[in-house]
Amino acid sequence: MIVLKSQREIDAMKKAGEILAACHKEIAKLIQPGITTWEIDQFVEKFLSEHHATPEQKGYKGYEYATCASINDEICHGFPRKTPLNEGDIVTIDMVVNFNGALADSAWSYAVGKVSEETGHLLKVTKEALYKGIEQAVIGNRIGDIGHAIQTYVESEGLSVVRDFIGHGIGAVIHEKPDVPHYGLPGKGPRIKEGMVFTIEPMVNIGMHYTKMDNNGWTARTVDGTYSAQYEHTIAITKDGPLIITDQE
Ligand code: MF3
Ligand code: CO
Repeated sequence: MIVLKSQREIDAMKKAGEILAACHKEIAKLIQPGITTWEIDQFVEKFLSEHHATPEQKGYKGYEYATCASINDEICHGFPRKTPLNEGDIVTIDMVVNFNGALADSAWSYAVGKVSEETGHLLKVTKEALYKGIEQAVIGNRIGDIGHAIQTYVESEGLSVVRDFIGHGIGAVIHEKPDVPHYGLPGKGPRIKEGMVFTIEPMVNIGMHYTKMDNNGWTARTVDGTYSAQYEHTIAITKDGPLIITDQE
């Protein structure tokens, strides 16, 4: 069942999203060679508590950290750790913020110092793919239109879209209906309605789209070792079009 949100619920999620967006903007300033994802995770804990918010991922299905921190060939659900980031790395920081019971979810990939041209292209295309998906998130379209726009664009740039992890409805809990794949056919899937709130979060690989799971049971990485990037926003469907709950502008 897809739960439609009231204006009041969307307003509450927007407040959580504003805190999350502000947190990402601070993380952007911290990212440089030598910093660890452990320190970033600590920073997020402090930032959220100062803003009277809590990290919803911590304790979710036994996950132990405020953030997911996925480095280079890690696609998602990397653990924050004490290994310093190096020049040329990329790192995706993903978090869900709870403010007064309302949730918002956003992941962002960051370049560590100067990255290769190939890696820069990956970041640019992945971010653009997110916005191409958001453009399709309008009343009357179908969920499949979002994935189709993302996949068509990403593949036209010679990159691949991860299939094994998808976007999701979000509300009282992190994962609700609908499923939001970042690939697929136009005109397929549920009709998009006013009041839906869901994430769009394409994970894009330089090489093949296949994933494999680390022994920790959480972290997914590319099978071929190529780098993977991700940008994620939480989106509310309104009469005036998609409202980006986690907008950093
Ligand atoms: N933020 C993730 C998403 O975009 C959810 C991570 S679940 C966790 O769907 F347990 F790993 F935190
Ligand atoms: Co997320």
